[in-house]
Amino acid sequence: MADSQLAAVVLAAGQGTRMKSSLHKVLHPIAGKPMISHLLASLQSLLPARTIIVKGAMGEQLENALPDVEFATQAEQLGTGHAVQSAMPLLEGCSGDLLVLYGDVPFISSAVMQQMIDALKNDDNCGLVVLGFRAKDPASYGRLVTGPDGALERIVEFKDASEAERAISLCNSGMMLISGEHATGWLSSLSNNNAAKEYYLTDLVEIARKDGMSVAVVETGEDELIGINSRAELAVAETIFQQRSRAAAMTAGVTLTAPETVFFSHDTKLGKDVVVEPNVVFGPGVTVEDNVTIKAFTHLEGATVRAGAAVGPYARLRPAADIGPGAKIGNFVEVKKATLAEGVKVSHLTYIGDATIGANANIGAGTITCNYDGFLKYQTTIGAGAFIGSNSSLVAPVTVGDGAIVGAGSVITKDVEADSLAVSRARQRSIEGYATSFREEKQAEKAARTKAAKQKD
Ligand code: UD1
Ligand code: MG
Repeated sequence: MADSQLAAVVLAAGQGTRMKSSLHKVLHPIAGKPMISHLLASLQSLLPARTIIVKGAMGEQLENALPDVEFATQAEQLGTGHAVQSAMPLLEGCSGDLLVLYGDVPFISSAVMQQMIDALKNDDNCGLVVLGFRAKDPASYGRLVTGPDGALERIVEFKDASEAERAISLCNSGMMLISGEHATGWLSSLSNNNAAKEYYLTDLVEIARKDGMSVAVVETGEDELIGINSRAELAVAETIFQQRSRAAAMTAGVTLTAPETVFFSHDTKLGKDVVVEPNVVFGPGVTVEDNVTIKAFTHLEGATVRAGAAVGPYARLRPAADIGPGAKIGNFVEVKKATLAEGVKVSHLTYIGDATIGANANIGAGTITCNYDGFLKYQTTIGAGAFIGSNSSLVAPVTVGDGAIVGAGSVITKDVEADSLAVSRARQRSIEGYATSFREEKQAEKAARTKAAKQKD
């Protein structure tokens, strides 16, 4: 199959200076995932035979972050054509067509990549496909110069363009598909005879035509081609991603009361008839099953919320929180690495960490699982149907048996038997009439002091 012979070369050797960051530009996350990984995910659905990233400065960061791809090194950035040339030694013996992508242009869909592949496949005389777009503000993009017959003749870089050429609105995205048969030969004939003294990949258009091959243009929308060079552009990309995620969630049967205030991660999974109230943030790794309500101002990360549960307002679910079917997590409750079975209620002001809680247990306001002694973490186990009174501390490791009751205000340091009551606070006693005699004594003392002070004046 021709498609399985595809080789992708992703350019990422640029300095990214405008990001002003010690993190490689293409590793800056969009919705919690490096921008280049968004691109690689779209690419992956085409099952490329090879994927090579061209790295330069801070390349070791890319190697650490992306273990499943190959790398070519471009020590000096001598232009986009030179960058692709740097990958060619790795592709010796690979006859596949060459798809050139930019690591900082992450939103190109696999559908558009497929259109480029089809354009090359469907015309035997086509040797090159260029991805173009109509720019609202063409600025310094390369311009696609077409002949009288509408065919692409060449790409002119803004720096090298005449006034008339600069007036062209059809721009070069930079993405290209090069016929595998010709790639090596054409790339080796690039020169740097231009305004920037760079090896321009765009010169391939004229080289292909001189070789008697035609060049096709596939056009796509500008927002698929957003390139990220600065923090401001990163924020624009995040906004685009969030808008798409919100729209997709609603299409899939999720109610978002105020969509623009809800933030998703790249991997957020929401079931049907989930309701997400305003100002909710999903970090990576969250799954929410059907019929769950996530109330306002809740933050979730690495958590699973089972069918019919309700979470929030103002709740925080941290990694490995597993909230059982129909369970209720209320305001100012934090849950970490804890499995709560069906129907558990943790309604107010509570910390549950490193715990398992049995079905229908009720955890009172202000309960704390004391899971950490400054060195190690310990487990708390609470049985089904147990009732933990308000303001209790459960000092782990500790087990509260099924159906047991912990009296409010207790500090529980020993296991509690099933169906028993554990109370660890001091016993209450009352002294009859004490309050009355205390007030009389204090009022008399105050009056005596006031009198003495007046006599001094
Ligand atoms: C390039 C195109 C231009 C197009 C524009 C779209 C050329 C000659 N020009 O211009 O027609 O409109 O992209 O954004 O191809 N890179 C390397 N090594 C290099 C140079 C660049 O890896 O030596 C990488 C960069 O990291 C970046 C991409 O290639 O991801 C594009 O480089 P950039 O310098 O932005 O190209 P432009 O001059 O903007
Ligand atoms: Mg650029």
